[in-house]
Amino acid sequence: MHIHRRRGWEIPERLATPEAVVLGRRAVAGGLAAAAFARPAAAQWSLFGGKKTPPQELSPLTAPRNKTYEGGRAITPERNVSSYNNFYEFGMSKDVADAAQALPVRPWTIAIDGMVKQNRTIGYDDLLKQVKLEERVYRHRCVEAWAMTVPWIGFPLADLVRLAEPLAGAQYVVFHSLADEKTMPEVKQAWYPWPYTEGLTMQEAANELAFLSVGMYGKTMPPQNGAPIRLTVPWKYGFKSAKSIARVTFTDKRPTTFWEALQDSEYGFWANVNPAVPHPRWSQARERLLGSDEMVPTQIWNGYGPFVAGMYADKTNERLFA
Ligand code: MTE
Repeated sequence: MHIHRRRGWEIPERLATPEAVVLGRRAVAGGLAAAAFARPAAAQWSLFGGKKTPPQELSPLTAPRNKTYEGGRAITPERNVSSYNNFYEFGMSKDVADAAQALPVRPWTIAIDGMVKQNRTIGYDDLLKQVKLEERVYRHRCVEAWAMTVPWIGFPLADLVRLAEPLAGAQYVVFHSLADEKTMPEVKQAWYPWPYTEGLTMQEAANELAFLSVGMYGKTMPPQNGAPIRLTVPWKYGFKSAKSIARVTFTDKRPTTFWEALQDSEYGFWANVNPAVPHPRWSQARERLLGSDEMVPTQIWNGYGPFVAGMYADKTNERLFA
């Protein structure tokens, strides 16, 4: 079991997590603030709806490592990455891995719609036949000031954009996570703007770093990490990396994303990592490496400036970093 002891330097989680933003709404909505914390200890199996869900088996999945994107830090132990998660559809704690075993990973389809040559639905297996998988070690920086370094397996987001055949006028790509009331307990809570939605500009989506991950650590993606397919945009705060993507929409209007809808002043559209721009309630100067007590300085663009900074040179009037 992962026991987390708070040190002096740590942000109390109730202050740091995005969930704190919505607790107020919860209280107003139903006097349920206390219930947010009154979660039973993790069971061996997910028990949502009275049904037991056994742990999902992961399959081996390997692909050649693309050395252009080495993480520059020790890889985080897999057990930490797969047991300390943000997946609000399954609960507001970090301890959602058991509940997430109920995620209906197969069959999986992705709807592609909006400003595209033709709306369509693509099966996950069909999609994988049309792309070339590779492994990339990326640093991930959560807005809550923790970080991890993960060997993801996936393919460039640009490949999906190409297959989708967007129209010339499309300016944004919107990612919608699955929102399944039958398996995701929090999706029943109407005060969240489900489905979880994230967005990128077309230019960001075409950036070589933007990646769709379908596995990690040489295996298919665990449900709690966003199976079967999730976004991985390592120069942005982790909430931009939407999990379990069920729909991709192309549009000429900037989308209002999940966290933006809940608290725009704290979680904006751009959300690029910058240690010099504090979150309204805590510093972003340093980050805790998951699986250890080590604190390290945070880098602007999470250290990926050479790949991405140029995209923002003309965006001087935008709130790029929060
Ligand atoms: N995607 C969905 N659908 N739901 C979520 O709650 N949390 C985000 C992001 N993607 C989230 C999500 C946040 S805040 C982070 S930091 C990362 O997923 C965490 O990914 P991990 O659990 O694989 O570490």
